[in-house]
Amino acid sequence: PLPTKPTILVAEKLDKQGIELLKEHGNVDCSYNLTLKDLCAKVSLCDALIVRSGTKVTREVFEASRGRLKVVGRAGVGIDNVDLEAATEAGCLVVNAPTANTVAAAEHVIALMTSLARNVAQANASMKQGKWERAKYTGVSLVDKTLAIMGFGKVGSEVARRAKGLGMKVVAYDPYAAQDRARAIGVELVSFDEALQTGDFFSLNMPLTPSTAKIFNDSAFAKMKGGVRIINAARGGVIDDDALIRALDSGKVAQAGLDVFSEEPPPKDSPLLAREDIVVTPHLGASTIEAQEGVAIEIAEAVINGLQGTLSSTA
Ligand code: MLT
Repeated sequence: PLPTKPTILVAEKLDKQGIELLKEHGNVDCSYNLTLKDLCAKVSLCDALIVRSGTKVTREVFEASRGRLKVVGRAGVGIDNVDLEAATEAGCLVVNAPTANTVAAAEHVIALMTSLARNVAQANASMKQGKWERAKYTGVSLVDKTLAIMGFGKVGSEVARRAKGLGMKVVAYDPYAAQDRARAIGVELVSFDEALQTGDFFSLNMPLTPSTAKIFNDSAFAKMKGGVRIINAARGGVIDDDALIRALDSGKVAQAGLDVFSEEPPPKDSPLLAREDIVVTPHLGASTIEAQEGVAIEIAEAVINGLQGTLSSTA
């Protein structure tokens, strides 16, 4: 049990199983769609804050909390929306839910990859406009094609397993991955350039960090074969959007399936939304009923543990 009953602000929708768990340990305030001003006003009254990817937990938020905020919980894997340096300076622990949505993200990659290969989204839109365009939407096969997985962590590995089941050859680039783990699922680890040169399909599964920001730029696209297909269900910021548009225009990239964007939601006039060769979904990678239940429980437990550590040491 916690020495005091903490106040936990849940700033984005969290499955009820997670809320119930939090309520056993503290006072829970579920307030969604807060403006930055309202979030700043609330954090000075909260011991913990839980967000998904829609809330930017900036230095301003930590400063506004005046030392009260002890734990920030990110209900998902990526913590790129939390200013970790400001958190450390404010003495605030940042925890995430690293496992519960892995399969959901991998399944969404496969959904986008098969949709691109067979023009599912485009053909659906065309038919609903009263058309019957069978020749126009002739697709490409996945079997015997090479899938290059860029970032071979938890999600990348699950994408690999599924792609092997579809008869694809899988290579992966990841400076931190172990050969043994890759070999165990029949994946060859290769250099960044080698992956770029061999992939027919690409699945981007790396976190957004200073070293991966816009790593898919003009120079990366130039190294690819002509007519490749790219799926990004990781973070929008790893692609240089202008370079992607140029690569689509030149035919280097045939199609892209994007679940994530450097700005979310992307501006309504973004060229990424206007093209038939880009299929988009609104950051749905982790959005399955099963994953959201799992993430809610995983993050609630992590936040409670974090509060137990910090509040008992200051009690
Ligand atoms: C993640 O980082 O796990 C996802 O982006 C989760 C989310 O949908 O917010």
